[in-house]
Amino acid sequence: MSGSIPQEFIDEVVARTDLVALIDRRVPLKKAGKDFAARCPFHDEKTPSFTVSADKQFYHCFGCGAHGNAIGFLMAFDRLEFRDAVAELAADAGLDLPSAGDAPPPHHQALRQAMDAAAHFYRQQLRDAPRAIDYLKRRGLSGATAAAFGIGYAPSRWDGLLQALGGDASHRALLIENGLLIARDGDEGRHYDRFRDRVMFPIRDGRGRVIGFGGRILDQGQPKYLNSPETPLFHKGQELYGLYEARKAQRELPWVLVVEGYMDVLMLAEHGIPNAVATLGTATTSDHLRRLFRHTSRVVFCFDGDRAGRAAASRALQTSLPEMQDGREIAFLFLPEGEDPDSLVRQEGRETFLGRVAQSQPLSDFLLHHLKEGIDLQTHEGRARLVVRSRSALEVIPQGVFRNLLAQTLGQLAGVELAPASGLARGRPVRSGVPQAVATHPSPLQRLAGLLLTHPNAAQWVDPELVPLLKDGDGEAQWMLALIELARDKPHLTSGGILERFRAHPAESLFAQLLAWQPERSAEGVARECRDICRHLLQRSVRSEIDALLAKAATQGLDAQEKERLRSLLSQRG
Ligand code: UTP
Ligand code: MN
Repeated sequence: MSGSIPQEFIDEVVARTDLVALIDRRVPLKKAGKDFAARCPFHDEKTPSFTVSADKQFYHCFGCGAHGNAIGFLMAFDRLEFRDAVAELAADAGLDLPSAGDAPPPHHQALRQAMDAAAHFYRQQLRDAPRAIDYLKRRGLSGATAAAFGIGYAPSRWDGLLQALGGDASHRALLIENGLLIARDGDEGRHYDRFRDRVMFPIRDGRGRVIGFGGRILDQGQPKYLNSPETPLFHKGQELYGLYEARKAQRELPWVLVVEGYMDVLMLAEHGIPNAVATLGTATTSDHLRRLFRHTSRVVFCFDGDRAGRAAASRALQTSLPEMQDGREIAFLFLPEGEDPDSLVRQEGRETFLGRVAQSQPLSDFLLHHLKEGIDLQTHEGRARLVVRSRSALEVIPQGVFRNLLAQTLGQLAGVELAPASGLARGRPVRSGVPQAVATHPSPLQRLAGLLLTHPNAAQWVDPELVPLLKDGDGEAQWMLALIELARDKPHLTSGGILERFRAHPAESLFAQLLAWQPERSAEGVARECRDICRHLLQRSVRSEIDALLAKAATQGLDAQEKERLRSLLSQRG
């Protein structure tokens, strides 16, 4: 996982970004009153209901409800992950992303440039390497696909890259840190090329930047594939070969095929199936899956039909279960023994291969098959074993329709009730929806939130008496307390900056909705409204306490302390 970025840095990035310019570069905006408008990029519409506010640094679509700040926009529109979105904005703002932990800040920029230069060098080398070109042709790769994936060639020398790019000591140091040069045994001062006489596959991150390489030997030799080591830029367990290229080829990915090898990805693309990715010689991790589900709703795993393939599929099944939220689909495709996607798509062509994908086994089928394996359902013992296995599987699946259906099916098989209501599965509590009425009839507390979201410096007008009241209040009161504290501490945050602090917080969607509907206010208006709301809230609380005490007085009577309290409250009411 990516290290966490300090909140102060994120604040700074959001503060330095101009949301209007950022969006306008991607979706041309038109001035509409004080704000800017366009046809919403997140849903189909004829009339513009997508609004961007320069003051608030916040966008909102009144049609589909899409909303957010600069980071949110990049995540949604460029499909970036959080860290990448922050990194991109930071780069635009001329800020260096702090590194995770307390390691010295790595000079990522310089490392990236060295990586780009190396990729360029390998591409150039391929042009003058008839043997490598021949090899790729024999494997059925066209020039166009090779170019789309940036395929290159590392020359058959100990010092090809070293000579070309490592002459200068500082450049050499970057190539070493990138894992492309290796120190000679016993001689730290002398280096040689890691990749020699290999076809080079650049591995790109979500934004298309080269972060590592895979290199395949021409014909015979060991190891067949050599990969970049872990470096500051390259973390093998997180990366998916071909994801960047797939997204470039198809903006919407209705499904993604997960295969084993570089050549599988390339040959599928060659045959008009650009939506395949490969893990880099590792098993699929939950990081991989989460990443994929940001870009598609259906993942199809591809495995060899042999025993090793089946074992890999069981591991993938275990990794998949906790990711099976409603709306996500996972399927398993088993290939005939001895074949891989590369060999199959070349033999059978696109349509037949797609036919296989269409008939892949849904995760639920595969799971059922797995759970029933080796069990005799005719016996009580067998059915009891099925129940035990089913429970442990159901336990890790997120709450939802899918899990309920599965529980039903398994229950029928075992002849017992396996409904999730039996308490066997603990899921996350369902997030309470925001009432639609919020927009048009906000409660006083919500009006106060709206004020603070647009004018954080209004926190100075919030009556301190309100704080203990909120502390005793419900969830929404707690959110408000957090908002008041934040506005007090950081009066200079923009609305977008405040919203950032509530990313993934239960209050996020309420606050976004409130933000979308805030009217214009003058500075005096803000102060007055804030004080009015506070007074109203305090009076309301006094009134309800009085009512409660009066009711008690009428039924049970009050003790001395309560009588005193009532007297003081009645005098406060004035
Ligand atoms: P395979 O051995 O299945 O090769 O490795 P392949 O993809 O079919 O390759 P070709 O068709 O012979 O060229 C699958 C993946 O496992 C990793 C690589 O990522 C490779 O693409 N691998 C394999 C290594 O990292 N090192 C190796 O020596 C072999
Ligand atoms: Mn192969």
